[in-house]
Amino acid sequence: MQSHRALIFGVTGQDGSYLSDFLLSKNYEVHGVIRRSSSFNTGRIDGLYKDPHEETKFFLHFGDLSDSSSIRNVIAKVKPDEIYNLAAQSHVRVSFDIPEYTCDVNALGTLRILEAIKDINPKIRFYQASSSEMFGKSPAPQNENTPFYPRSPYGASKVFAYWITKNYREAYEIFACNGILFNHESPRRGSTFVTKKIIEAVIKIKQGKQKYLYLGNLDAKRDWGSAKDYVEAMWLMLQQDMADDYVIATGENHSVKEFLDEAFKLANLDWKEYVKIDKRYFRPAEVDMLCGDSTKALDKLSWKPKTGFKQLIKEMYEAGRKN
Ligand code: NAP
Ligand code: GDD
Repeated sequence: MQSHRALIFGVTGQDGSYLSDFLLSKNYEVHGVIRRSSSFNTGRIDGLYKDPHEETKFFLHFGDLSDSSSIRNVIAKVKPDEIYNLAAQSHVRVSFDIPEYTCDVNALGTLRILEAIKDINPKIRFYQASSSEMFGKSPAPQNENTPFYPRSPYGASKVFAYWITKNYREAYEIFACNGILFNHESPRRGSTFVTKKIIEAVIKIKQGKQKYLYLGNLDAKRDWGSAKDYVEAMWLMLQQDMADDYVIATGENHSVKEFLDEAFKLANLDWKEYVKIDKRYFRPAEVDMLCGDSTKALDKLSWKPKTGFKQLIKEMYEAGRKN
């Protein structure tokens, strides 16, 4: 049987690396798009990459979501069956500092891929990494019918990407799906997101290498799941008979304070002795509470999360201690 071919934008990120692992385990040929960088940005996928002269099912190509020609060239060259758009300026706080760039990449970048699919091969199946940040101020629990109320340039950029994905599905019959994913974490999470920042600090404080941890809003509540569980849902969406949009979440939420409690407890420490507040980490507008209802994903995809809150923190802590 001929194996499927997937193209991943954002392959060097947390989700891109787990999705690559997952698709390779399903015997896919996986192609990833990486950005040119003056320092190495492939740490999360180094274990997968082999010299292309050897036998391999994992290939990398240079490209950038701000550059239409690179998107078109890579799609035309790779001829994928499925495209996963995981590329984004994904940091909410940073999106207030670089709003125009964030929207160019996250919103127009998605449009650029969809235009290329329409022109090159409208049969390609497309996954868009939509976000619970789109719900913003809308009350929890949030599901597929909850109105969007974004609270950041990041959230607003993702709302555009969501609608343009839906529009290309309706206008051109492209098999295009939005996965509306709530926060998901892992040992591979970027160090500036709150969960990984806390875990890294706990380990360093325990080792006597760090004195304090500076954070912003400790009262925000998030529905934190595991990235490994969530990439399977992305793939499932593209295997259905009909393209659709799905919320992916655990249905449980916890405050940053609760995360601190659990993480510091693993090191037998009390976070109140080490955490200080720095205004720098507050956002001009905050999303207070996210909690997803993924009943539709359970009904239609038979997907449900496997990793609970405490287990996720433990996995991140144990992995961090080994590094
Ligand atoms: P991440 O770790 O920040 O990875 C983002 C990826 O996008 C990296 O590979 C990055 O490349 C790439 N990228 C950034 N700008 C680009 C550009 N101009 N052109 C091409 N590639 C670019 O994010 P993640 O946590 O894996 O999230 C994956 C996607 O899901 C993102 O779209 C994010 O917004 C969305 N999302 C994430 C969550 C979550 O909780 N993790 C929840 C909902 C939605 P470099 O390595 O070169 O920077
Ligand atoms: N990053 C960070 N750093 N967040 C902090 C800090 C800090 O020092 N202190 C408190 N927080 C609070 C933030 O204000 C926010 O309410 C919460 O911790 C979570 O922040 P992040 O971990 O940065 O994640 P996020 O929820 O803003 O965004 C993530 O999840 C979205 C899905 O809801 C990102 O992965 C987005 O790309 C994703 O779409």
